[in-house]
Amino acid sequence: ARIYVPRDTTALALGADAVATALAAAAEARGENVEIVRNGSRGLFWLEPLVEVEATAGAGRVAYGPVGAGDIDNLVDAGLLRGARHHPLCQGLTEHIPYLAEQQRLTFARAGVIDPLSLDDYLTHGGFKGLQKALSMSPRTIIDEVRAAGLRGRGGAAFPTGIKWQTVLEAPLNPAATAAKYLVCNADEGDSGSFADRLVMEADPFMLIEGMLIAALAVGASRGYIYLRSEYPNAHRILERAIALAEQHRYLGANICGSDKTFHLEVRLGAGSYICGEETALLESLEGRRGEVRAKPPLPAVAGLFGQPTAINNVLTLAAVPFILAEGAAAYTAYGSGRSSGTMAFQLAGNIARGGLVELAFGATLSTLLQHFGGGTASGRAMRAVQVGGPLGAYLPASQWDTPLDYEAFAALGALLGHGGIVAFDDSADMAAQARFAMEFCALESCGKCTPCRIGSTRGVEVIERLCRGDDRDADLTLLRDLCDTLADASLCAMGGMTPYPVRSAIDHFPADFGLEPEGHD
Ligand code: NAI
Ligand code: SF4
Repeated sequence: ARIYVPRDTTALALGADAVATALAAAAEARGENVEIVRNGSRGLFWLEPLVEVEATAGAGRVAYGPVGAGDIDNLVDAGLLRGARHHPLCQGLTEHIPYLAEQQRLTFARAGVIDPLSLDDYLTHGGFKGLQKALSMSPRTIIDEVRAAGLRGRGGAAFPTGIKWQTVLEAPLNPAATAAKYLVCNADEGDSGSFADRLVMEADPFMLIEGMLIAALAVGASRGYIYLRSEYPNAHRILERAIALAEQHRYLGANICGSDKTFHLEVRLGAGSYICGEETALLESLEGRRGEVRAKPPLPAVAGLFGQPTAINNVLTLAAVPFILAEGAAAYTAYGSGRSSGTMAFQLAGNIARGGLVELAFGATLSTLLQHFGGGTASGRAMRAVQVGGPLGAYLPASQWDTPLDYEAFAALGALLGHGGIVAFDDSADMAAQARFAMEFCALESCGKCTPCRIGSTRGVEVIERLCRGDDRDADLTLLRDLCDTLADASLCAMGGMTPYPVRSAIDHFPADFGLEPEGHD
């Protein structure tokens, strides 16, 4: 039998190594010959460690989860090695688990299916098909394909990827600087509740490498960096090994796949700063300086890393590219709604019964995600608020959960989809405390370059505390709203600019938590 035990961070944190060891020992003790494959997670975190058994080739994988090391003897006695299905932990065929079967997995199609560090596995599952096509295309036709697919930046800002790439392609090299254009992958996944970038890197790292190769061909970059947050040591190890394997097999370095193209790729680690996920602070950090935001213009696409034209894209944006090239733009636009084309990797976290990754076409509703996939709160209490798009995203009350998940619909609510992280709160949550947390987060993570963010956030914490004490509610509320306007209008980057989202939404939708009367908003 072939047995899959994930080795991504979530499964490891839940004891997957001990499960793998116990399985190997139990099989040996019974004289059974098993092959244990350490895959990535399928993203069904509520079932991790999820053990999958393929008793005979082609028979499909039977899933068991969540499995602890202490369950192994019992499971093996109940026929796990033969894929027997009567044990209470058996979930049936993995592909038939509704949480997975009802997703539209384009980017995450291989996650959990393959051994992340097997090039053979990657190739048998359609890997490098997009790259092979791109190698026969001109930069402009690659860009045209990505534009036709309507791909927009998945880091949160949703800027059209094809237009960004075109800017880099057309920007002249800076003769005073280094002799190359650059491609930078932003893997500084700092948003609370988000983990999709990590899952790509841990479950399907060659897909990211392929996406970067295609992007490099499109923009004319010969060198690339993955800027990875230091809190992801497991992703770091996997990426380094995947890059070494890709180099060994001529997918990276000089003469890629026998062509005259060159692309060198390296991983650089951040040092724990949230603001280094902002693209210009990231560039400063990559150049070896303190991560302080640069004023734009110039855009990085025109003058970025070491002064050269630089394409900076999020992991998920680059990971979407191999599918688009391999299957064509039309296959991608078959999914989505309006100007939000394709799929989005939604990440369910917080107080939710079934946390995990749900890749769906844009246009589904939050209710579907929270109830149908997520199964309501983990606490069993009523769900009260949902924060979408990281710590700077708005808190949405139940009345807004039927809004379609697409960029424009969320912008119309004064909210954002961001990177797709969704954090649920039950009715014990104190939304005034959450608003205070947003201001405090901004104060802690501010790079300090501009006054509204550096000083306004600290004053914001104080005003929220006074407002909740109720000394002079009218005056403090007016002051807080003024402060939010100043932060939104006068901050240099999204850190200060977006902090008002959680603060305003908490006040508007949950005024009682601040000791305020409802203003007729909700
Ligand atoms: P932005 O709207 O300023 O820029 C978006 C991207 O498009 C940038 O790469 C920019 O350089 C590029 N761009 C803009 N105009 C261009 C043009 N004419 N030609 C070529 N490129 C152009 O947004 P920003 O400040 O980069 O990102 C803000 C977003 O970041 C927020 O919406 C938020 O959702 C997200 N975010 C994501 C986090 C995460 O962990 N993924 C954490 C915090 C924020
Ligand atoms: Fe720095 Fe904050 Fe200004 Fe952004 S808004 S540049 S993080 S001080």
